[in-house]
Amino acid sequence: MSLFAGKGKPLVGLDIGAASIKLAELRDGSGGGYVLEAAAIEPLPPGAIVESAIKDAQLVGEAVRRVLDKAGTTTRRVAIGVSGNAVIIKTITLPEMSELDLEGQIAYEADQYVPYDIDELNLDFHVLGPSEHEEGHMDVLLAVCKKGLVEEYQQLLDSAGLDLVCVDCAVLAIQNMAELIGNAQRAGAGQAIALVDIGGALLHVNILVDGRTTFVRDHFIGGNDLTQAIQKETGMSFQQAEQLKLEDPAAIPAAAAERYHEQVAAEILRALDFYAANHSQPVSRMLLSGGAALQPNLIEALAMRLDIELDLLQPFPTIALPNDKGFDPIEVRRQGPRMIEALGLALRSGEQP
Ligand SMILES: Nc1ncnc2c1ncn2[C@@H]1O[C@H](COP(=O)(O)OP(=O)(O)OP(=O)(O)O)[C@@H](O)[C@H]1O
Ligand SMILES: [Mg+2]
Repeated sequence: MSLFAGKGKPLVGLDIGAASIKLAELRDGSGGGYVLEAAAIEPLPPGAIVESAIKDAQLVGEAVRRVLDKAGTTTRRVAIGVSGNAVIIKTITLPEMSELDLEGQIAYEADQYVPYDIDELNLDFHVLGPSEHEEGHMDVLLAVCKKGLVEEYQQLLDSAGLDLVCVDCAVLAIQNMAELIGNAQRAGAGQAIALVDIGGALLHVNILVDGRTTFVRDHFIGGNDLTQAIQKETGMSFQQAEQLKLEDPAAIPAAAAERYHEQVAAEILRALDFYAANHSQPVSRMLLSGGAALQPNLIEALAMRLDIELDLLQPFPTIALPNDKGFDPIEVRRQGPRMIEALGLALRSGEQP
C-alpha cells in the first residue's frame, strides 16, 4: 500500500490521535477549491492510542463507529495518518534516476537510513526535485512505517466495515493542508517555516525550506501534560482537570500553565536546535495546529519564549462551508486548527494514483 497516494473517489480522512478521533470529508467546490462535506470529533480516553499504536482495539473501534455516525457520512474509504516511533520520514539526496529505477533501489537506500529490518517496513518515496546542493542529484522524501502498525489499523477498520485505502504520515497530511491554505510557502528566500502540531500526547515539528520538508521530529508532550499539571496542583481527577482546562481556562492554576508553557517551549527549542545544527536557513515563522494549540495564551507564551512569529493554521474559509449540512460555522472555525490533519488526509481523495 502506498504511504502517499490516494485515488480519485470519495474518501474520509480519519485522524486517530491520543486524545480524539477527527473525521473530515471534502468534496470539490463548483468554482474550484474544496467544500466540507462531513466532519466530527470524538474524544478518546488516555491510553487507548499511544504513538499511533492501538492499545485498546474495542474502545477505539467503538469510537470510530461513533465518529462516523456523528459525521453522518456513508463513505467507507478511509485515509489514516501515522506518527511516533513507528514512522520515519527523511529527505535523502540521491543521484538522478527514473522513478522506475528508484522504485527498484529504494529498499537498498532506505536500509542505510532506518534502524529497522527493511522486511518489516512499508516503504514509500516521493521525488521532491533536483538537489540544490549537488549537481546531478535529486532530493527524495523517504517515508517508512512499520508493517505491524498498518496491519493493526487494517483489522480495526475492517471490523468497523471500512476500507483502508491510504496511510499517510501525519506531518505530511498537515503540510498538504498548510500548502492548500497557502501560507506554508510564505517565507522569504532562504528562510524556513516550521509547522508545529500539538495534540494530546505528541508535538510534531516539520520544518519546510522553500516549501520542502527538510526536518521532521516528534516530541512527547501535548495537552495531556497541561491536564496532568492541573491535576497535580488541584488534586482533581484527569476528567475534572480536563473539564476545567476546556471550560474555565481562566481558572487554570498559574503555576501549572507556566510549567507547561515552559516545557512546550523547551521541546520546540530542542527541535530548532537540532535543525540548526545541519541547516543554515533560519526559521522565521511557526504555524500551529492541533487541539492543544487552541489553549488560550499559548501562542503569546511561546512567542515570548521563542522570539518567532507564530500563527494558528486556520483551514476555514479556504475550505468552504456548505449551507445545507447544518454546520455551526463558529464552532467549525473554532475547531479548525484541530482538524488540520484530518482535512489533509481527506485531500488525498483528489489525487491520482
Ligand atoms: N479549546 C481548547 N483549549 C485548550 N486545549 C484544548 C482545546 N481543545 C482541545 N484541547 C486539548 O488538545 C488536546 C487534544 O488535541 P487533539 O485532538 O489535536 O489531539 P490528538 O490528535 O488526539 O493527539 P496526538 O496528536 O497527540 O495523537 C487535548 O489535550 C485537549 O485538552
Ligand atoms: Mg494529533
